[in-house]
Amino acid sequence: MSNVTVVGLQWGDEGKGKIVDLLSEQADIVVRFQGGNNAGHTLVVNDITYKLSLLPSGIVRKGKLSVIGNGVVIDPWSLVDEIERIGKLGVSITPQNLIIADNACLILPLHRDLDALREENAGPKARIGTLKRGIGPAYEDKVGRRAIRACDLGEKTTLQNKVERLLIHHNSLRKGLGAKEIDTQELLESLYKIASKILPYVKPAWKYLYNAKGQNKKILFEGAQGAMLDIEHGTYPYVTSSNTYAGQAAVGSGIGVGSIGYILGLTKAYTTRVGGGPFPTEQSNSVGKLLQEKGNEFGTVSGRSRRCGWLDACMLRQTVIKEGVQGIALTKIDVLDSLKEIKICVGYKLDGKKIDYYPSSQIAQAKVEPIYETMAGWQTKTQGLRDFDALPKAAIRYIKRIEELLGVPVVIISTSPEREDTIVIKNPYATDNTENLSAHSALLGRTLADASR
Ligand code: IMP
Repeated sequence: MSNVTVVGLQWGDEGKGKIVDLLSEQADIVVRFQGGNNAGHTLVVNDITYKLSLLPSGIVRKGKLSVIGNGVVIDPWSLVDEIERIGKLGVSITPQNLIIADNACLILPLHRDLDALREENAGPKARIGTLKRGIGPAYEDKVGRRAIRACDLGEKTTLQNKVERLLIHHNSLRKGLGAKEIDTQELLESLYKIASKILPYVKPAWKYLYNAKGQNKKILFEGAQGAMLDIEHGTYPYVTSSNTYAGQAAVGSGIGVGSIGYILGLTKAYTTRVGGGPFPTEQSNSVGKLLQEKGNEFGTVSGRSRRCGWLDACMLRQTVIKEGVQGIALTKIDVLDSLKEIKICVGYKLDGKKIDYYPSSQIAQAKVEPIYETMAGWQTKTQGLRDFDALPKAAIRYIKRIEELLGVPVVIISTSPEREDTIVIKNPYATDNTENLSAHSALLGRTLADASR
């Protein structure tokens, strides 16, 4: 298996930065394929903390190529700032180690404005709790076929025509929302200015990936956000505006669907969520507080405190099946170290009836009550453990139960933010794909009810 796709299975913040960094050691190329600078991946390498938003996590390693794929929406000003900020930490970023897909769409200041205006004008219940980075409005313009793309930065006439067209749409919206209209020339001038800093990286990224495939290079696809924030499969409308599912790695980078490789899904040993929206296993009590404090659950990008709760195996299993996940990386197990009892949600009750899946209706999503299984905690330190056999028995039981409930193996366990504090049971790059395919079809042969017993 020469490629691996890493995706979050919850509402983001599963610890993808660390796992991607770990795997990027074996990869030649790291690719972002969706989202934008709403992502926040923290890497701790040799005591230096790197907070990345848009740059692929491979950027901190020498000799790796980082690709920002066409499925990503790019705020060029924010990207230039990030390149400078990470550069100051001693990482050299040049067109030799960073490529931006020429067909990727841009986030403009007007998208940020619109994101903020909408959130501010929404009532507390309708507010999505976005990061106000303009992600949603930028994807709207992409689908509306009026977005500015990275390649347009090199063509003055195209840029002028497209900006004029874009402003007809945005200025009427702005008028309606009581915001100042945007001047065509002013926007064009600022785009011309930033273009010179971005264009050296802008290339047909798909070609580099195709060539890399021919040379048997290893590619790592780095997902951002998480499955429950997926625009189609998540807790709509409390979602982000991209497809966060693994399949998007192919469309969002221009590599064939058969080339995304082993699909590694990440979940914390508990659940968190930032922003609004349903969260059946949320614990607004001392357990939630403990998880938040021990897990340092505060947003990388926004600094907002994250809502915390028990692991939702029912929701996770649904995602594993729908997304085709082949193995699990379980992160932050050490956060549970002091708990006497640990709960796992194995199904829900809806209007008094048991159900074994998470429904799509907004009312039902908010109404379901979790059915919990309670397990004994281990009340000893797992933090920093690097050997599976060193884990306390109760922690092993918890991990095994997660495997049973999800129907796929836990292949990586993370026991602290440090790169070395990781138990690798099975290296996703060393996995035989046929083995995974048969494991997956065996899983699909079982019913959801079997797993939640
Ligand atoms: P947007 O992506 O900024 O439009 O925000 C939409 C929703 O996705 C909000 O609830 C955000 O809090 C959430 N979100 C976006 N990016 C991330 C992330 O990287 N981690 C966790 N939540 C995120």
